Amino acid sequence: MSATPLTILVTGGNKGIGLEVCRQLARAGHQVILSARSTERGQAAVAALVKEGLHVDFLELDTSDEGSIHRAVQALSGRIKALHVLINNAAILQTWMGTILDVTAVELRETFNTNVVGPILLTQALLPLLEAGKPARIINVSSQLGSVAQMTDGWPGYGISKAALNAATRKLAVALQKRGISVNAASPGWVKTDMGTENAPLSLEQGARNIARLVTDFPAATTNKFLQENGEYPW
Ligand SMILES: NC(=O)c1ccc[n+]([C@@H]2O[C@H](COP(=O)([O-])OP(=O)(O)OC[C@H]3O[C@@H](n4cnc5c(N)ncnc54)[C@H](OP(=O)(O)O)[C@@H]3O)[C@@H](O)[C@H]2O)c1
Repeated sequence: MSATPLTILVTGGNKGIGLEVCRQLARAGHQVILSARSTERGQAAVAALVKEGLHVDFLELDTSDEGSIHRAVQALSGRIKALHVLINNAAILQTWMGTILDVTAVELRETFNTNVVGPILLTQALLPLLEAGKPARIINVSSQLGSVAQMTDGWPGYGISKAALNAATRKLAVALQKRGISVNAASPGWVKTDMGTENAPLSLEQGARNIARLVTDFPAATTNKFLQENGEYPW
């Protein structure tokens, strides 16, 4: 049980790393709100955690839909007075193959909408609740594939979207530092999930731990960093 329970919102919490992050943080004694774009899948995930003896609440939230973001924040404002942690975890990866020479406009737009625009709009909409919860933190779940310093050929739409999410992380960190809200990007590593595939070296538990530890092991004031399992990663 954590000494000071925090209220934490996780996007894309119905499966994969998001679900496991919800599990680990609820086990640590925090008040976790698991959000998902599908009520059915989200409620099923919450039910599974409740069956394990954990207390987790559900919120419907599609990060690619501005209307859904605003409805979710309105609903949340009626349920909690302050939010201490926002974990922008929801993301899509449409194609592994090809290079930037092959990527389509549809893939770029859809990937940007979910992976970049959604986290920025959600952050803006949640600012009153986050300010009420300061020192508050925002964790943007990024990827090593988003490192501009080490940009590779493949995963073009996804890689560019995570680089943009990293840029948004830095801008938000600067914009929010004086308002008591820290903002960091964190890579879970290559993790066995539907997105990461069975070929990934890291277990779900390890990957989620690399994200959850930013809440449990880092001071709230840590900001403007791109973190991974072994420390900082080049932007
Ligand atoms: N797995 C890896 O190796 C790896 C590596 C680096 C970074 N990451 C990052 O880690 C995070 C979690 O990835 P994962 O491996 O757990 O992926 P995953 O198993 O594919 O899960 C993705 C989650 O995001 C949700 N989602 C997608 N679009 C959404 C939207 N518009 N609104 C709300 N939720 C949405 C999905 O919901 P549905 O079930 O409804 O589709 C699902 O819950 C992502 O940010 C990913 O980029 C993963």
